[in-house]
Amino acid sequence: MSRLVVVSNRVADPRKTAAGGLAVALAEVLNNTGGLWFGWSGRIVEDGGQPSLHTQHAGPVTLVTADLGQSDHAAYYVGYSNGVLWPVFHYRLDLADFDDGYIAGYRRVNQQFARQLAPLLREDDIIWVHDYHLIPLAAELRALGCTQRIGFFLHIPLPPPLILAAIPGHDWLIRALFAYDVVGFQAEADLLHFDNYVAAEAHAQPVGEHRWRAFNRTVQAGAYPIGIDVDEFQGLAQAHEGREMFERMRREYSRRKLLVGVDRLDYSKGLPQRLKAFRALLTRYPETHRSATLIQIASPSREDVSAYTDILHELESLCGSINGNFGELDWMPVRYMHRTVARPRLPGLYRASRVALVTPLRDGMNLVAKEFIAAQDPADPGVLVLSRFAGAAEQLKEALMVNPYDVEGTANAIHLALQMPVEERRVRHESLMATIRQYDVHWWCNAFLDTLAQAESAESGTPWL
Ligand code: ADP
Ligand code: G6P
Repeated sequence: MSRLVVVSNRVADPRKTAAGGLAVALAEVLNNTGGLWFGWSGRIVEDGGQPSLHTQHAGPVTLVTADLGQSDHAAYYVGYSNGVLWPVFHYRLDLADFDDGYIAGYRRVNQQFARQLAPLLREDDIIWVHDYHLIPLAAELRALGCTQRIGFFLHIPLPPPLILAAIPGHDWLIRALFAYDVVGFQAEADLLHFDNYVAAEAHAQPVGEHRWRAFNRTVQAGAYPIGIDVDEFQGLAQAHEGREMFERMRREYSRRKLLVGVDRLDYSKGLPQRLKAFRALLTRYPETHRSATLIQIASPSREDVSAYTDILHELESLCGSINGNFGELDWMPVRYMHRTVARPRLPGLYRASRVALVTPLRDGMNLVAKEFIAAQDPADPGVLVLSRFAGAAEQLKEALMVNPYDVEGTANAIHLALQMPVEERRVRHESLMATIRQYDVHWWCNAFLDTLAQAESAESGTPWL
C-alpha cells in the first residue's frame, strides 16, 4: 500500500490540542492511516543560516518539520499567505497588503520545502498538500523531477474570479494548481468559482466533469467538504474531562441558558458582529437579562499580522461595554476568554450550552459547528445558529441560518434558538447528526484520496512556472 505524505504549513503533534481546522483534521486522518507529515517547525531562525529539519515520531506518524529564516517567515507566512491570500480568499480586499516583496518570499519557501521534501519521498508515495501557503509546492516538486501523484486541498474559500483577479500574480497561482492531479475545495460554491476562473481567465478546456486541461496538464477538481471524527469527539464527551466540564458548567449555570462561541481570534469569524447581535438581543428582549450568558472563547492567532491586533482590541472593548451596560452584581452577560481550551474539555462545554453561535463573515467550512452538533445530548440538544457564509451552511440546512452582517436579524434568530421547544430541537438535531456522520473526516479523506488514486500518473519535466 502506498504511503501517505501530507504537507501543510502548520504541523501539529496529533497527541496535543491544536486550534485550527486543518491541524485538527489532519491529526485525525494521520492517526488512522499513518504516514509522513511535513511542514513548518514553528521556529524562526536568523537569516543566512541553513534551515534545519527536525524529525519526531508520534504513534504511526513521522513528523518532519523545517525551520524558516526570519525574512522568509515575514514574506511567506505573515506577508503573502496571511496578508494577501487569507484576506482576499475571504473576500476582504480592504484588508489585503499587496506588497511586491512578498511573492518572492512565498516562492522561496515553497522551493525550500520542495528541496527538503523531495529526498524523503518514495516512488509510490501519495502526496497530499494542504492550504493556501503551499499552492506552488507541486510545481516546485515537479521541477525537481517528482512524478508521484500529488493532490491539493484548499481549506479556505475560493472567491469568485473578479475578486481572485485582484491579486497581483493570480494567473501564476492558478497555473501552479495545474501541477496537481486533483484539486479539492470545501464547498460547491468554491468549485464553481474555480471552474469559472479557469474557463475565463486561463482558457482551460473542459475534458470531463470539473476536469480541465491547460498548460499541458489535466487537473481534476472537486468539492470535498471536510468533517470531524464523530465517534472520537463523542468519546471525548463521555470521557472523564468531558463529563467533568459538562457537570461543572451545568452546576454553575443551572439558572441560566448558555450560549457558546469557540473560534480562533480572526476577523473572518465575525466576532464583533456576534457581540453586537448579543447586545441587540439584550436590548430587544429584556427577559434574557440574567437568564442568558455568552461564553466566547477566542484563541490567539497570527498576532504578527496587524489586522488581528485590531480585532482583538475591538472585541475587548465590546465585551467590556456590554458587561458594563447590562451586567449585574450576580450576572455577567459575556464571559470572554482569549485562550485555547484543552480539546478534551470542549465537548463538555458544547453539551452544556443551549445555543452555539457560529457566525463567520466567510469561512471555508467551520468545524466548530460540527463539533457542537456531535457533542449534544440527543434527548435535549442545543441549537446551532449558523452563518450562511460558512461552507458548512451548504450541508447543515437544519441549523438556524443567519446573515451575520444583519445584527438585528441575528439577535432575533438567537432569541428563537433560546425559545425553541425540545421537540423541534430534537428533529433538527437528528438530521444534522445524520449529515455530520455521513460526511465525517474519514469520508472526506477517502473521497479525496480515492479520486487521487484514480488520477493518471503525472507527466513530469515540464517547466511549470
Ligand atoms: P479555523 O480552521 O478557521 O480555525 P474551524 O472551525 O474549521 O476554523 O476549526 C477550528 C478548530 O480549532 C476546531 O477543531 C476547534 O475546536 C478548534 N478551536 C478553535 N478555537 C479554539 C479554542 N479557543 N480553544 C480550543 N480549540 C479551538
Ligand atoms: C485555518 C487555515 C489553516 C491554519 C489554521 C490556523 O484553519 O485554513 O491553514 O493552519 O487556520 O492558523 P495558523 O496561521 O496558526 O496556522
